[in-house]
Amino acid sequence: MFRHSVRRFATTAARRAAAAPAADPSPYTLAVSKAQGVAKGLTGGNTPLIRLNKLSAQTGCDVLGKAEFMNPGGSVKDRAALYVVLDAEERGLLKPGERGTVVEGTAGNTGIGLAHVCRSRGYDLVIYMPDTQSQGKVDLLRLLGAEVYPVPAVAFDNPQNYNHQAARHAERLRKEAPGGNGKAVWTNQFDNTANRRAHIETTGPEIWAQTKGKVDAFTCATGTAGTLAGVTRYLKDVSNSRVKAYLADPPGSVLHSYIQSGGKLSERAGGSITEGIGQGRITDNLAPDLGLLDGSLHIADAKSVEMVYRCLDEEGLYLGASSALNVVAAKEVAELMGPGHTVVTMLCDGAYRYADRLFSRKWLESKGLLGAIPEHLTKYIVLP
Ligand SMILES: Cc1ncc(COP(=O)(O)O)c(C=O)c1O
Repeated sequence: MFRHSVRRFATTAARRAAAAPAADPSPYTLAVSKAQGVAKGLTGGNTPLIRLNKLSAQTGCDVLGKAEFMNPGGSVKDRAALYVVLDAEERGLLKPGERGTVVEGTAGNTGIGLAHVCRSRGYDLVIYMPDTQSQGKVDLLRLLGAEVYPVPAVAFDNPQNYNHQAARHAERLRKEAPGGNGKAVWTNQFDNTANRRAHIETTGPEIWAQTKGKVDAFTCATGTAGTLAGVTRYLKDVSNSRVKAYLADPPGSVLHSYIQSGGKLSERAGGSITEGIGQGRITDNLAPDLGLLDGSLHIADAKSVEMVYRCLDEEGLYLGASSALNVVAAKEVAELMGPGHTVVTMLCDGAYRYADRLFSRKWLESKGLLGAIPEHLTKYIVLP
């Protein structure tokens, strides 16, 4: 059946091609002509912008998701990883072609992105992470060539926090090398604004070009806030502030209440099943662009988990919970703006790293989220 339809398609295409004047490029050759040439080694970015058809029909808007799960490390964080390493090279902390070490405190996607970038540029990578993280994450980072130190999970103001340990490790490598000038850098993704620059220089321009300037609103959640701040900055600048920007926040993050209260920073309380997002402070990546935001949305975990299942069922997209939260936010922004608008969000990573939780009945029950999955989608709960 499948073979038959493929053959029929091929024959029809051949007939059409034969009928067309020789100089007329077919849609196929046009698509090929837009493809990139040869990339000189590892590359990322230039991800597709996917129209979420069911949600677009539901809202009367074009709801579009940037397919960041198609980056080499499988997430949006590949962009920041590349830029913080290039920034260290610009600042002379690393030298291309020479041995050097990148040190970062991260429990997830940034470490994986850095591992790819470091391998491709010949640097060593050292990762500090809280010892509460899964063995799978530790194994993956080691498999990608990183030296990994799981350390006790303590608060940011404790000197033993994994970020501070990462900073000291880089400092040690710099001082202990002969001449006290070793090539090592703590890339500090939260407060290193090279992270935000990655999105000003790549993600923002890609969204503008892919929508031919028709984007009306952008929304996404924040971890470091590099993505939200950088894309917002670019789209506001290029559109003369016409494009609206909204922060989307999970439970346990303080940013929604900070924005709604006009700048009161509350204590962090509660938590979320989403990973990689939610924040307790205003990072240096967010600070310069916080004032550009038009508003914020709080998205409950039940809505995010339901959207994981809806995206799979309706769009064929296998997304992690932070992406699903973003899609919920894009739908709510579309409803806020009304039909006829174009709303863009980020599909940060796939569900692969979270499948043992997101599709497990026991886990969903333990989080009180089993009831969030509509009856017709419970067929996807395939793990006990
Ligand atoms: C899955 C996922 N989504 C979203 C984010 C947030 O991106 P940013 O750090 O640019 O705010 C992260 C960050 O680590 C992430 O891992």
